[in-house]
Amino acid sequence: MSEAPWIRQLAGEVRIHDSLTELAGEAAAWIVSTANAATRQHGTFSIALSGGHTPSPVLEKVAAEPLRSSLGWPSWRVYFADERAVRPDDPESNYSLVRQTLLDRVPIPENAIHRMEGERPDLDAAAAEYSALLAATLPLLNGGAPRLDCILLGLGENGHTASLFPGTEALDVADSWATRGRADYAPYDRITLTFPAINAAASVAFLVAGASKRAALRGVVDGTVPAARVRPSDAALIWFLDRDAASEEPAAG
Ligand code: 6PG
Repeated sequence: MSEAPWIRQLAGEVRIHDSLTELAGEAAAWIVSTANAATRQHGTFSIALSGGHTPSPVLEKVAAEPLRSSLGWPSWRVYFADERAVRPDDPESNYSLVRQTLLDRVPIPENAIHRMEGERPDLDAAAAEYSALLAATLPLLNGGAPRLDCILLGLGENGHTASLFPGTEALDVADSWATRGRADYAPYDRITLTFPAINAAASVAFLVAGASKRAALRGVVDGTVPAARVRPSDAALIWFLDRDAASEEPAAG
């Protein structure tokens, strides 16, 4: 299986791993160094987490030894990149997933965990309040954007990231840091960070595994899918890929 010739055209740094296990180990080590550098610089480390399957082995590694005891957990501030419109204890909830893989295993103070309230009947209000919370609790850039130290993103087969889905209004929201999203699979209703919030972060990492993501990666290179709009203005952008995702599509026929 050969590497797709265009894969290195992804904006930012591209790291390709032989397996999901190796990807998880490398991404976890990167989170540790990013977290510890932020904590040394300004005393805290803010991270926004996504749902989906790919982050789980990464978060489990961060929460287990030997990495667990190398982190200053009281300095962590946890946010979310997106959430589904379900209760926080629903198996489809991103918060529930992150709770099981990370939050229940490490001593992050409860008041430093900021979940998106996907269970609320008025998702517009919940998103507006989350936008205000980001601005009230994070350092602000000159233009007023709240600056997360780190965002972990996934990539959907249709090129969505967070809950920024193709053809939806959320893609063009420029006056809020969080907004309502609409997925093309259940649970349909979402809350998501907006592109201005994502692009204000100090570092953004995509975690992408599996052959089913090849077309979406090509769409990112070609600028035809939502994830192509992740272009942090002054930040590290890193793609953690596995070899299946980064390989050439087999010739048709
Ligand atoms: C969600 C996500 C979403 C996810 C991608 C990739 O709530 O579903 O945040 O953007 O990251 O769909 O998901 P996988 O990692 O499962 O491929």
